[in-house]
Amino acid sequence: MTQHIFIGVAWPYANGPLHLGHIAGAYLPADVFARYNRLRGNPVLMVSGSDQHGTPITLAANQENTTPQEVASRYHRGFLESWDKLGISFDLFTSTGTENHAEVTHDVFLTLLNKEYIYRSTMPQAYCPKCARFLPDRYVQGTCSYCKSVRARGDQCEACGKPLNAAELLQAKCAICGTPPTFRESEHFFLRLSAFGSPLLEWIKKQTRWRPNVQNFSLRFIEGGLKDRAITRDIEWGVRVPQPGFESKRIYVWFEAVIGYLSASKEWARSQGDPEAWRPFWTGQSRAFYFIGKDNIPFHTIIWPAMLMGYGSLNLPYDVPSNEFLTIEGDKLSTSRKWAVWVPDYLARYDPDPLRYYLSANMPETGDADFSWPEFVRRNNGELVGTYGNLSHRVLTFIQKNYEGRVPRTGAIDDRGQKLVAETKATMDTVDHLLSQCHFRESVRVIMGLAQEANRYLDEKAPWKSFRTDPQAAGEALYVVLVVLAGLKTMMYPFLPFSSQKLHVQLGCQGDIARAGWELQMPEPGIKLPTPVPLFVKLDDKIADEELNRMREASGAEAPVAR
Ligand code: MF3
Ligand code: ZN
Repeated sequence: MTQHIFIGVAWPYANGPLHLGHIAGAYLPADVFARYNRLRGNPVLMVSGSDQHGTPITLAANQENTTPQEVASRYHRGFLESWDKLGISFDLFTSTGTENHAEVTHDVFLTLLNKEYIYRSTMPQAYCPKCARFLPDRYVQGTCSYCKSVRARGDQCEACGKPLNAAELLQAKCAICGTPPTFRESEHFFLRLSAFGSPLLEWIKKQTRWRPNVQNFSLRFIEGGLKDRAITRDIEWGVRVPQPGFESKRIYVWFEAVIGYLSASKEWARSQGDPEAWRPFWTGQSRAFYFIGKDNIPFHTIIWPAMLMGYGSLNLPYDVPSNEFLTIEGDKLSTSRKWAVWVPDYLARYDPDPLRYYLSANMPETGDADFSWPEFVRRNNGELVGTYGNLSHRVLTFIQKNYEGRVPRTGAIDDRGQKLVAETKATMDTVDHLLSQCHFRESVRVIMGLAQEANRYLDEKAPWKSFRTDPQAAGEALYVVLVVLAGLKTMMYPFLPFSSQKLHVQLGCQGDIARAGWELQMPEPGIKLPTPVPLFVKLDDKIADEELNRMREASGAEAPVAR
């Protein structure tokens, strides 16, 4: 039985390059999950796009003295390049700047308006008397009225994650000049969130597979009371409001960005030549997964579900496997302090799979996790090169030298060998289950456990010794390890697509491993294997220091000492 799987991934603001926090938080787990489901034969639709609107983009344009469109287009191109090099396999990565997105947004807006889930009212809009201008959300800073943190802005509190309006901030200040803003009444449209309190509460309570942090955050959020929210703003950059009299206003970025999941699905369907192809991913038995960082939780477990409930007939999120934060060398990642590892920089110097490996094995699934260069080098050299790569290289080069590169023919396999083959099959079942539950870290741990076991087996059997005295036993041991490698290439594929494809070919298989299925493909005795090439390269220990220095220079800070 196959299952339609929709995968929505948070839309990155197109106001700067991607960093490792984005990757570990959302894009890598989404990609692992997509690749796993495709191998299982499930139809997958994975979409996202650049979030081109909102004050993050206009602020960047002001700073760079250019237009919001120029900023958005430039970073959008950068995103596409990063996905390609990192192997993040979107079915479509579009942007909120398309005509299609505006149309779909207008359809949702007008449907909700007809059903009276959207209504007209006024709200105070912040105005800076010194700058003589209206101040949209992020242009206002202040103290959170819920948690009293001073790290709150007019769109959201950075500390407690609550979405906010500028008027809700205490001690509000203009982000440009520091003057306390005055507030002027302005007419806007509001989303009647208050109407969805009890259906949302019921729906969230009955979720059994959500991560506890996601579920608890969402419950607390609703229990605090759901207030209606303004979904238009007095700004020029954004999606137009489809109502007369609102020509000088735009739809609020958060209201339209989440609609991107639907508009992107429709755009994808059209690009497939079947405009209705999105429907099986949004209706009936299909399951919708939303991969996001933890600061995006309320928008995906409350606001977007409320919009979907109001709109009707489309599936609500099935799971929102939100990750916690990634710290860098033990410190909070900060783009403003330039304490970050940028994806384009990483990809200019290193291969994608070692990063995918480290971030998967150390994913911030249930708590914050740390990226550290010395750790990155250590795990690459010890685990990828030393355990996994070495297992494959030892066996494949030995077969190349002593068996004319042909898969050894074996007779009966002894108990020890049978046991390892059985363990490979059992591991595939375990990892199958873990991945279906979005337990990525644990999957990697279990897979590497099998690779370690196979190395021990190979050391015990030492076919390089028995080859002369007992060729039958040597061939048997090599064959058993080829079986383990066949299992490893499949289980590792969602995490390490590039090296799995290499191993696939080296094990004598043709074509794209993505189409080989979640199956243990037993190597065919006698077939000729290509000349092996190493799956991974050893990294020099000194690159950890080089990278730490680079970061220190970029941020102007003392780099933490290598641990
Ligand atoms: N651009 C937002 C951010 O980076 C995320 C938007 S997710 C979406 O925080 F679903 F709303 F698009
Ligand atoms: Zn707060």
